[in-house]
Order: sequence, then structure tokens, then C-alpha cells
Amino acid sequence: MIGSRSVEERVVIVTGASGGIGRMTAIRLAERGARVVACARDAARLRRLAIEVPGIEVRRCDVRSPAERAAFVDGALARHGRVDALVNNAGVGWEGLVEDMEYADVERLVTTNVTALIDLTRLVLPSMIEAGSGDIVMVSSISAFVSTPPQTVYSATKFAVDGFAEGLRREVWRRGVRVHTINPGPVRTEWLARSRGWEPPAGSPEANLAAGVPVAWVAAAVERSLARPWPRSASVPRILGLVRLLTLPPLRHVVDVVTGYTSVTLASARPSDDTERTLESLPESSPQ
Ligand SMILES: NC(=O)c1ccc[n+]([C@@H]2O[C@H](COP(=O)([O-])OP(=O)(O)OC[C@H]3O[C@@H](n4cnc5c(N)ncnc54)[C@H](OP(=O)(O)O)[C@@H]3O)[C@@H](O)[C@H]2O)c1
Repeated sequence: MIGSRSVEERVVIVTGASGGIGRMTAIRLAERGARVVACARDAARLRRLAIEVPGIEVRRCDVRSPAERAAFVDGALARHGRVDALVNNAGVGWEGLVEDMEYADVERLVTTNVTALIDLTRLVLPSMIEAGSGDIVMVSSISAFVSTPPQTVYSATKFAVDGFAEGLRREVWRRGVRVHTINPGPVRTEWLARSRGWEPPAGSPEANLAAGVPVAWVAAAVERSLARPWPRSASVPRILGLVRLLTLPPLRHVVDVVTGYTSVTLASARPSDDTERTLESLPESSPQ
């Protein structure tokens, strides 16, 4: 490959590496000789990863916590003297209609998918700019191309990720830092089950995998981005780049109509205990 760069000996941070895409990305890069520093919250799953692939350094870090994010990046910089690449992969979904979301769900999606990703990037950037080289990979989604109810808020976070990546790419490319976006369609991970409220028991083997492309496809796309001498945006599989066409009229109107109908169907299919809940939730002193 013209101008291809090896990942060997590069220090690469991978977030959300206890399962799914992040886990496979950490394994793939470590097998190619990268010094991978991987994080997630599930310490038992991380320990298993470290035993399976001894080259991977694992750290427990909740990326939603500003203090944990800072300690995680500072630790990697202190131990390795540099961070050559950051793979911003940790992410969560929530499936359902916006009016049914709790505030805590909104906050969890935005802080995990957007705030943490921007802040981790901010934390690694100065050392990359000083070194005159670095790669930031955003694991976004095809949901960043077309908003997809009933994952509307999730889509909004991925629009934010792609928007951030576009601006950042313009800020830093002349200073040696490449900003890449990977936009997968459905991938065979726990993500969808978790978006529907299921949580894997701590330390458990991966389960409840959704239909989709293998995680190895996305991990390979991340590796290809790190190998290129220029910034790259890639859908996985590549054909899903065509989803962007759905933003053009008249296809856009077709999407409006279809998602409008499915949203009404979802709203009428939900349990109809709304009246009861509203009455129960009124405070004692509310005017009746
Ligand atoms: N699967 C798909 O169909 C699909 C499609 C397009 C894009 N994506 C994107 O791909 C990325 C990876 O998703 P996946 O499919 O691999 O899902 P997954 O199997 O559910 O894995 C998500 C990873 O993120 C970690 N994570 C979640 N919240 C975290 C937090 N607060 N702090 C640290 N780590 C956290 C999880 O680990 P812990 O729970 O141990 O913290 C886990 O390792 C996400 O950004 C997702 O939006 C997925």
C-alpha cells in the first residue's frame, strides 16, 4: 500500500475494550505489534483480555468521569512517554421514543458518546501536536448520516461525533494529526441488547449478540486508518456509504414517511398505563 505506516511499537489507546468492536480492535492492533492501552468499566472482562493477549495493558476507566479520563490519559503518557493514537470507541445506545426517555438516559448517551470523546481527544492532542504526528479515530456510525428513530438521540450523538471530527480534522491536519471516522452499520455485538436495557453481568462472556457484520471488519477498518498517511472516513461495510444518498430529496421524504409511520406504530404499541403513571406521579400539593 502506497505510504502505508505500520502500527508496530505505536502507543494506541482504545476505549470501550471490554467487549465488541473495542475488544477486537485492541487484539488486532496488539497482534500487529502496537502497544495497546485499553480501558472500560468491567474490570473482570478487561483482566480476561489482558490474559488472552499479554501485550495489552488494561485499565479500568469510566470515560464519563472527568477525573478518571484525565488519570487514564496521564497514566498512559507517563508510562509510555507519548500516545501515538487514540481510538475513541466507547459508546452506548438507547432504543425508544424520545418522550419515553428518562433524563438519566439522555445524559448517559451524551456524556459517553460526545463529552467523553471530545475530552479524551483534548487530553491527548497537545502531546501529538508537539510530536508533529498522531491519529485520532472516531468509531461513529451510519446513524451519523441519517437520523434513525427509534435511536434518535443516539443518532444525534453520532452526528455530533462526525461534526466534531470534521472541524478537528481541519484544525490539526497541517500540524501532523490525522482525524479519522469509521461509520459502521449493524455489527455483531452486545450493543443493540444493551440499547434495549439489557446489561451483561460483570465478567461474563459476551452474549446477546445482534445480527450484523463481524467485529473484525470494523477492527480492520481502524487498522487501515492508522496505516494511512492521510485522514480517512470509512463506512463498514463500504457499501453503506450509500446511506448518505438518503439525505437527498426525494429519498429524504421517503425516509420521513417511513419513520413517521414506524414511530406512530411504536407509540401505540407501548403499554397504555400513562394516565395511571401521571396521576401517581403528581406531588401531594399539586393543584388538581
Ligand atoms: N454494534 C453496532 O451495531 C454499532 C454500529 C455502529 C456503531 N457502533 C459504535 O461502536 C462502538 C462500540 O460499540 P460495540 O458495538 O462494540 O458495543 P458493545 O459491545 O456494547 O461495547 C461497548 C464498549 O463500550 C464500553 N463502555 C460503555 N460505556 C463506557 C463508559 N462509561 N466508560 C468506559 N467504557 C464504556 C463497554 O464496556 P464497559 O461496559 O465494561 O464499560 C464496552 O466495552 C460504539 O461507539 C457504538 O456506538 C456500534
